[in-house]
Amino acid sequence: MAAKPVIYVLNGPNLNLLGTREPEIYGSTTLDDIAGQLEDQALALGLSVDVRQSNHEGHLVDWLHEAQAMGAKAVILNAGAYTHTSVALLDAIKAVSVPVIEVHLSNPHRREAFRHTSYVGQAAHGTIAGFGALSYTLALDVAAKL
Ligand code: DQA
Repeated sequence: MAAKPVIYVLNGPNLNLLGTREPEIYGSTTLDDIAGQLEDQALALGLSVDVRQSNHEGHLVDWLHEAQAMGAKAVILNAGAYTHTSVALLDAIKAVSVPVIEVHLSNPHRREAFRHTSYVGQAAHGTIAGFGALSYTLALDVAAKL
């Protein structure tokens, strides 16, 4: 049987603390909960997901390169605060041809001005933000259709 197309789901700094981190903004769902939901959803869509998290910018760059090398169908990327700072991530997304879907739990445009700039969004295929854990679910549905 052919291997299922894989979607990389990459999460940046502080997202390991989801569930307890500022729950009034990010909700009470943990990253493990989100990973479990995405695995079930992927199964139903005939896909597989590889969900990862790192607090280190370079890991996210390496994983974008890896997604390309491994022939991933798409990358769902919540780069956390690196969204707003990282030219390295912008360059990495431009350097690969795999489509990248930017996701955020919160809607950065409703928050502080420094969150209104997204380097990731300047190269991403599209962005889904503001729907809590549902942002990831929506992104996986989109990834399946790309
Ligand atoms: C976030 C929004 C970012 O501004 C913030 O730095 C995060 C989480 C979100 O998912 O809403 O760490 O990416």
